[in-house]
Amino acid sequence: MADVEALKKEAGIEACKFVKDGMKVGLGTGSTVKHTVIELGRRMSEEGLQIVGVPTSLATEKLAIEVGIPLVQLSDIDGLDIVIDGADEYDPRFQLIKGGGAALLREKIVAQESGSMVVVADDRKKVETLGAFPLPIEVTPFSHEATVRALSRLLDCRVNIRMAGDGPVFTDNGNMIADAHTGPTISDPIGLETKILMIAGVVQVGLFNNMCDAVVLAGENGVETILNPAGRLEN
Ligand code: 5RP
Repeated sequence: MADVEALKKEAGIEACKFVKDGMKVGLGTGSTVKHTVIELGRRMSEEGLQIVGVPTSLATEKLAIEVGIPLVQLSDIDGLDIVIDGADEYDPRFQLIKGGGAALLREKIVAQESGSMVVVADDRKKVETLGAFPLPIEVTPFSHEATVRALSRLLDCRVNIRMAGDGPVFTDNGNMIADAHTGPTISDPIGLETKILMIAGVVQVGLFNNMCDAVVLAGENGVETILNPAGRLEN
């Protein structure tokens, strides 16, 4: 069994091949893409790569500053060339579940502003049908119990507010995360995203549909780049 941490590092570093001089780069969140951020910082200091970054979380902002990537605000630029980010699951149509690290709202805004999206993952993230990983949904603290009940009725499954020790997890935006235990049943992620977003109290859902252009996937037999045939990237 290959060391998962080693696989994450391999995928994270390999994805840097998509980043070229002068690009504006969305910097994702998580234990896989952290290797991308570190490698981009290394290429800047050792190889003269010039980029600017937009982080998708406070944790990534801190790391990017540590490794020397200059940061800009999304509001001050006209879009990004690319975002590189992790995922909790991806299906054969390159639809994703994200938000395991509670950063889904900023991640989705950054992905929406990006000309392309590359996902870095180890091969445990590849699934036939989304949903074995509990679906993260960012909800307002106000009346979150009612929002959880509405989600549970809609999805017909258990929905829990994510906890850290005795208290709820709060996102970088001051919201909470409701995790929906749908099981691997999400065969229509686009339809489901639309329905979930109609519930008042829902800020965003961790279904990333029609956003991912390529997955850089590390497994026991090495790392491969799988291009979405309907996507915006070439190898
Ligand atoms: C954070 C995310 C992460 O990208 C996702 O959870 C994957 O993280 P990791 O690479 O640590 O498995 O969506 O909100």
